[in-house]
Amino acid sequence: MVRSKIAGIGMYVPSNIVTNNELTRYMDTTDEWIQERTGIKERRYAHRTQETTTTMGVEAAKIAIERAGITVNDIDFIVFATLSPDYYFPGCGVLLQRAMKMKQVGALDVRNQCSGFVYAVSVADQFIKTGMYKNILVVGAEKHSFGLDFSTRGRNVSVIFGDGAGAVVLQSTNDENRGILSTHLHSDGTDAEILAMFNPGTHANHWREQSATFNEAEIGDMFMSHAMVEKAENFPNMDGPSVFKTAVVKFPEVIMEALAANNYQPADLKLLIPHQANLRIAQFVQQKLKLNDEQVFNNIQKYGNTTAASVPIALCEAWEAGKIKEGDLVCLAAFGSGFTWASALLKW
Ligand code: ACO
Repeated sequence: MVRSKIAGIGMYVPSNIVTNNELTRYMDTTDEWIQERTGIKERRYAHRTQETTTTMGVEAAKIAIERAGITVNDIDFIVFATLSPDYYFPGCGVLLQRAMKMKQVGALDVRNQCSGFVYAVSVADQFIKTGMYKNILVVGAEKHSFGLDFSTRGRNVSVIFGDGAGAVVLQSTNDENRGILSTHLHSDGTDAEILAMFNPGTHANHWREQSATFNEAEIGDMFMSHAMVEKAENFPNMDGPSVFKTAVVKFPEVIMEALAANNYQPADLKLLIPHQANLRIAQFVQQKLKLNDEQVFNNIQKYGNTTAASVPIALCEAWEAGKIKEGDLVCLAAFGSGFTWASALLKW
């Protein structure tokens, strides 16, 4: 039976470290508030003009490809997950193909926000299992710092996010004792507006109470208008407490689903790599599943929430620190905007 295994992994974070105290220069917040509510101490911000979501993805990809012992010419498909693409379209996948001078292989962009990387891994896994491709580059990258409201108005969101990228090479293997055992994907759009960036977009308030956002005249016929910018609609919007309540239910559910599908218990896990949404969410999940500290990896303290990049960055750091060895049972799990949530269980 053909399976896919992670043959190489890499990460890239910008060198520019931004502490919580630095954010107090722009907005009314404190290091204490941010650490207490999110666990975050600092995050990285990309260079304004020299680094993009794609260029960070390229840096992570180079390392993953080298560690897989292959070259860019061996990659036969690209899956790129991000919510902060260089262009609205085309996607980052083709920009990465160009930047890495790859062959004219397929490139697919995944727009599933915080669960984007786990979704992307699942997509790549299916292509490998069917025998269509042998080496797939899966990238998660974000340049959030370009799209946050740094005034006090946006502080509940902007303090949380950071920039970075992670990448893996998924490769086919016939080894029964290694690779991705299963992936589990879910969505529920009931609360799509709880965590969203509304504009630019084509909805013209179709889904929302117009009185609460724009009157008929303000909506206009445009993808983007001055009124939208004035109302901060070009920044992410989040009802934090509602996200928290759903996340702490769906994270454990989807992890248990992956374990049950393969006849494992939480105690069997060597390492859980949760999407680094918020340290309090990860701690809640740890408690619920009765996992010990060694079984859960967190690095949100250093990088903030890097959305599609958070799982591969955490996985890469855990692997580099020697916390994952061949044969170990590892679970990747994510939850985010949409809502969408997902898990992948694998034997390293
Ligand atoms: N600094 C200081 N005060 C702040 C800040 C800030 N950065 N942000 C909000 N506040 C204030 C609010 O204005 C509010 O003040 P008020 O009581 O005077 O009105 C007060 O803090 C409480 O606001 P809440 O939004 O209720 O804050 P909460 O305690 O819920 O914490 C947080 C906010 C951290 C976002 C929390 O809701 C949470 O952890 N949510 C989970 C969502 C999450 O982690 N999202 C990450 C991205 S999505 C994802 O990855 C799944």
